[in-house]
Amino acid sequence: MLKIINLSKKFKDKTILNKISTEVAFGEISLFIGKSGVGKSTLLRILSYLETKEEGTIHLNDKHINPLDVGMVFQNYHLFEHLTCEKNITLALQKRLKKSKKEATMISDQLLEKYMLKDKTHRYVTSLSGGEKQRLAIARSLALSPKIICLDEPTSALDPTLTSHVAQIIQDLGANHIVLIASHDTELIRQLWLRKANCTINLIDSGDLTESAKLIDYFSNPSNFPKIHKFISGE
Ligand SMILES: Nc1ncnc2c1ncn2[C@@H]1O[C@H](COP(=O)(O)OP(=O)(O)OP(=O)(O)O)[C@@H](O)[C@H]1O
Ligand SMILES: [Mg+2]
Repeated sequence: MLKIINLSKKFKDKTILNKISTEVAFGEISLFIGKSGVGKSTLLRILSYLETKEEGTIHLNDKHINPLDVGMVFQNYHLFEHLTCEKNITLALQKRLKKSKKEATMISDQLLEKYMLKDKTHRYVTSLSGGEKQRLAIARSLALSPKIICLDEPTSALDPTLTSHVAQIIQDLGANHIVLIASHDTELIRQLWLRKANCTINLIDSGDLTESAKLIDYFSNPSNFPKIHKFISGE
């Protein structure tokens, strides 16, 4: 279980997140929505140790979270464009986890196979399509076996068919990880609902987590969740 308790963040004097608390279980997907600039990416970046917090605690199974517990998939992928797909995956395995080249390559082979990139193993990232880059970024984050996966706007650059594909990948990840997503893509939300994903939507507004709903409850009766409904329907 991931427990975020009273998490606050300021940039200079501006409060971005104001005592946010939430819990996410293994096997659950937690989706953060909200207007541009409310702090969705900041929340994921704090969890991934890419940003500091003012106050609050983040516990995974009642212990302080460890950077290796969290895999981050960035909006613009942050891949090493001048390296091959394989090298993008093996680099961190060799440098951070001190795996041998043979072992790292074996893990990379399995992930590239799983994410349908096997034929791109020795291709440079620059030659990949947007959907392929997204899959490689997810595969790379999984190489270090994180328990939590954070995905920042995972479908913002994808067409509806690829969004549906990524929704399936996210649902599969959700089966044995804690998954956190920052997104305002209503198509992704719809696709997760169609797949009956175990997903909670959380609305962030003016620093607060103002409303949360299980996806299935939201879609059964949107009017029970007026703030989320207003945001999603764009009213
Ligand atoms: N390093 C930083 N220094 C100062 N301000 C920052 C920094 N990073 C983010 N901010 C500000 O914090 C606020 C929250 O940014 P954040 O990127 O988390 O928003 P977001 O909800 O992800 O927005 P979007 O939907 O546009 O991605 C914004 O006002 C942003 O300008
Ligand atoms: Mg963002």
